[in-house]
Amino acid sequence: MKFKGVIFDLDGVICFTDQYHYRAWKQMADGIGVYFDEEINNRLRGVSRMASLDIILERSAKQYSAAEKEALAEQKNDIYRELLLQMSPKDLSAEVKSTLEELRNRGVRLAIGSSSKNTKIILKQIGLEDFFDAVSDGTNITHSKPHPEVFLKAADMLHLQPSECMVVEDALAGIDAAVAGGFGSAGIGEAATHDQVTFPIQKVSDILTL
Ligand code: BG6
Ligand code: MG
Repeated sequence: MKFKGVIFDLDGVICFTDQYHYRAWKQMADGIGVYFDEEINNRLRGVSRMASLDIILERSAKQYSAAEKEALAEQKNDIYRELLLQMSPKDLSAEVKSTLEELRNRGVRLAIGSSSKNTKIILKQIGLEDFFDAVSDGTNITHSKPHPEVFLKAADMLHLQPSECMVVEDALAGIDAAVAGGFGSAGIGEAATHDQVTFPIQKVSDILTL
């Protein structure tokens, strides 16, 4: 590992909250009679809550005011938070856990770089509350991915330059953010197909071989 730091996206890399996001958005969309499916849900990966709502409302004939949108986003988040309570340390795979431990043993500094404002709750649910050297998330940024802010703040918290860090992402918007910030990147799933990803990987443990 030639990088001094690794910055992990949370949703879709460390754990799998996609289904919970999907179920919560689906319930909200059904409530206002707006069509929503798994394909639209894929476009929400890495995208902030309000930007996700805007994507869902593309299918709506009605124009929603800012206050109405806030209420819809809150409704979704309440459902989502309830679902997150079902998560436990069992939702952290043995593969991800051992990869994190091995990187720590090698002296690599480890951070989270996630757009989610629920990051700290999720880390607590899966037993990683105090594990990372830095947590940069939706609560300390003004621009969401593809803007690099969340990763730049993470690198800063690790006292490292972007060029010394690798970002691990599952979202195309996350790789865009890594490229824009001058970070190396490892892309899993859809992110492995990004034409500017540094290392396409198939599973998180592959980063140990880089
Ligand atoms: C990202 C997810 O990690 O966080 C997105 O990939 C989600 O799907 C975003 O919209 C914001 O999450 P939250 O928890 O702040 O609503
Ligand atoms: Mg993700």
